[in-house]
Amino acid sequence: MLEAKPKIVILATGGTIAGSIDNELETTGYKAGVIGIETLIKAVPQIKDLAQVSGEQVANIDSSNMTDEIWLKLAKKINELLKKDIDGVVITHGTDTMEETAYFLNLTIKSDKPVVLVGAMRPASAMSADGPKNLYNAVALAASKEAKNKGVMIAMNDKIQGARDASKTHTLNVDAFSSPNFGNLGYIVDGKVFFYNTNLKEHTKKTPFDVSKLDTLPKVDILYTYSNDGNGVAAKALFENGTKGLVIAGSGAGSIHQNQKEVLKELMKQGLKVAISSRVVAGSVALSKDDKDLGFINTQGLNPQKARVLLMLALTKTNDINTIQKYFEKY
Ligand code: SIN
Repeated sequence: MLEAKPKIVILATGGTIAGSIDNELETTGYKAGVIGIETLIKAVPQIKDLAQVSGEQVANIDSSNMTDEIWLKLAKKINELLKKDIDGVVITHGTDTMEETAYFLNLTIKSDKPVVLVGAMRPASAMSADGPKNLYNAVALAASKEAKNKGVMIAMNDKIQGARDASKTHTLNVDAFSSPNFGNLGYIVDGKVFFYNTNLKEHTKKTPFDVSKLDTLPKVDILYTYSNDGNGVAAKALFENGTKGLVIAGSGAGSIHQNQKEVLKELMKQGLKVAISSRVVAGSVALSKDDKDLGFINTQGLNPQKARVLLMLALTKTNDINTIQKYFEKY
């Protein structure tokens, strides 16, 4: 008997994969998030050979405008879908903030079924657009049995990358994503999925983060440190404006210019949570005993934008610095 094809739902949120301009030579200056999900699916009829596919438009935006509201809507929708007779979910998304959405879902989806984000670097109207092949690959990945319990993944340029480590590391090239600490999880070749690496951090069903009853998320912002740092002023203004946590993109292994650090120390006494990440692409933060004793949180190898995601979710559960520190070590 023929095995029924897996049921895959494609949730569309916009991005360059849904972008278009009236000139097939132009790969910049186009409008992202203008083409609807049905058109994207029709452009890749071969995905019907891989799975029973249906599509739903969740948003149609340039992902630089991503919001907590859309994140919560996506997480709730995916959790509902995966409780049903659906084998996997693909999310079409702009590449600019794809890594943040991927990590948010990696921490909030309560299923071991595959969840795959996909986008494109060239608009759908471009000569040699990368969207159709990326979408084909994403459906192949979401439909594959091997992709179960791998955490949320990104399928771009034939690579499979894990949500925790994958990051946009090129502004324009089609090979825009890399995973600086753990490396790729695998590749997709001619619709076949090959894994040769694993994500050792806990994810999805093993995290304590439940967004099912949340309508908002705690406000967490990111500040850089740099020579002659003037961001102490910004830290104070953000805290006074309701920010509950700050992630600092530290220099090196997580150092902060004394100008900013003195202000942060005062704000931490008033309840602000401060997590230290790094401006450096790869590696991990190493905090001194003094910094730990002051209450600074070590974000491990998470880049600032992903550390922000985890700090937001952590603050939905606790204000205890030691518990938050444990979350950063586990997830
Ligand atoms: C976006 O992130 O929505 C625009 C850029 C892209 O998708 O590559």
